[in-house]
Amino acid sequence: MKFRKKILCIGAGYVGGPSMAMIAYKCSDYRITVVDTNPDRIDAWNSAELPVYEPGLDLIIKKTRGKNLFFTKDIENQIKENDIIFVSVNTPTKTYGAGADMAADLQYWEKTARQILKYSRSSKIVIEKSTLPVKTALAMGKILSSGKGKIKFEVLSNPEFMAEGTAMGDLENPDRVLIGSHETKSGLTARAELIEIYARWIPLKKIITSNIWSSELSKLVANAFLAQRVSSINSISALCEKTDADISEVSRAVGTDSRIGDKFLNAGIGFGGSCFKKDILNLVYLCSYYGLPEVAAYWESVVKINEYQQERFIANILKSMFNTLAGKKICVLGFAFKADTGDTRESPAINITRKLLAEQAQIIISDPRALKNAALDLSDIKGSIKYVEDPYQAAAGCHALLILTGWDLYRGLDFKKIYRSMVKPAFLFDGRNIIDHNKCFTIGFNVYPIGKPALSHL
Ligand code: NAD
Ligand code: UGA
Repeated sequence: MKFRKKILCIGAGYVGGPSMAMIAYKCSDYRITVVDTNPDRIDAWNSAELPVYEPGLDLIIKKTRGKNLFFTKDIENQIKENDIIFVSVNTPTKTYGAGADMAADLQYWEKTARQILKYSRSSKIVIEKSTLPVKTALAMGKILSSGKGKIKFEVLSNPEFMAEGTAMGDLENPDRVLIGSHETKSGLTARAELIEIYARWIPLKKIITSNIWSSELSKLVANAFLAQRVSSINSISALCEKTDADISEVSRAVGTDSRIGDKFLNAGIGFGGSCFKKDILNLVYLCSYYGLPEVAAYWESVVKINEYQQERFIANILKSMFNTLAGKKICVLGFAFKADTGDTRESPAINITRKLLAEQAQIIISDPRALKNAALDLSDIKGSIKYVEDPYQAAAGCHALLILTGWDLYRGLDFKKIYRSMVKPAFLFDGRNIIDHNKCFTIGFNVYPIGKPALSHL
């Protein structure tokens, strides 16, 4: 079959895989190829067990893979063959040298740019899909224009706003698609080419354009604002616990103001995921780099409150359980950083579990999707850890239950049955405020929600 457009995506991760699957699904006359330096990832994308769990993804992969969506390891030839290249490689926080623990590590991006330059035999549009510091396109442009030939590269910014667990819905029906370009003739032509792809299924009024720097910066700012809301409500949850106010009631009262809105106001054990922390730290670094220490300090406080919230949760467990956890069995319900994903990157459960193990507790971890990743995250640590998929088996014989991920399945658990199987007094710490606390208290649990009075029989 002759395809109308040939598109390449470099980076077959949580963003590259699902976002390209959606383009392939919506544009059956385009050929989409996804490459990665990690051969296991490519093998997994070509297998029955996809490397990413995302509701609805398997169906779309079934409809497109081998027809107009291809996963391959041959980066060199794919760069040669395709004229539109999305780059969605990872951009983690730098762990070494200048800007360590703050700045974005751009080594994967730069390697990709150099590969594109090396293997290209014709002009190309290179699209930043990864989240990058503002002004990255400048460096990209310089690397890409350092070749001797006549080949031209036009860099666009097209940050991705999907969230894990809801990625397919977010990609199919996004609030907006953002495209930043240089405001030159070639920049605007490239922009029009990218708009043509999204316009296949997204109304034009939702495709917004800007200059390239605004686009790069907007992605960091959007994540910072979302994380800021979580930290804001979590900071107030601490005050609620001191004053007998109820954080759910406060959230509702505040969130019904249409100027504020009701989303991202659920208090809990803090935000996790691969991006919020790294993107805010990147923003903090940029502010410091540009000589804005007050602005840097403002955004850094969002991360500090997130850490404080986890420390408060751990301290509360220790204090409520008579200041000793040594030898006690604690069941962790949920290890993923949020529901509907198997991703555990920066999950609060990692830090909380590590701290409980340091108190010599015995940990039993249950999660419907994230046990493999949990075992990898904790592989370096000594201590008693078991991984049990069935939540009833995991809880049996435990002194305490900790709900760390808001999986829907936990709402429907038979807590009477669980209570009967536990050591008494039985403790329940709901780090996501998702279960019926009064009901569990009546069953016999000592219940500790976030931002609400504890319900204790002791
Ligand atoms: P990921 O780690 O899951 O995937 C990145 C992939 O890129 C990896 O498989 C890695 O092997 C590959 N890679 C690295 N260097 C390469 C190279 N030179 N050539 C080919 N492949 C290479 O990361 P992710 O979660 O998909 O995130 C990618 C980017 O998208 C990041 O910048 C992130 O901030 C951003 N983002 C992520 C999400 C999300 O929900 N995960 C959402 C929006 C934006
Ligand atoms: C987030 C953004 O929502 C996406 O728009 C963005 O594209 C993505 O980051 C990214 O750049 O990687 P994601 O991290 O997948 O998406 O998931 P979120 O739904 O934003 O949740 C992040 C964390 O905040 C989770 O740990 C979640 O449990 C927590 N959270 C969220 C709360 O504690 N309370 C809330 O009210 C909402």
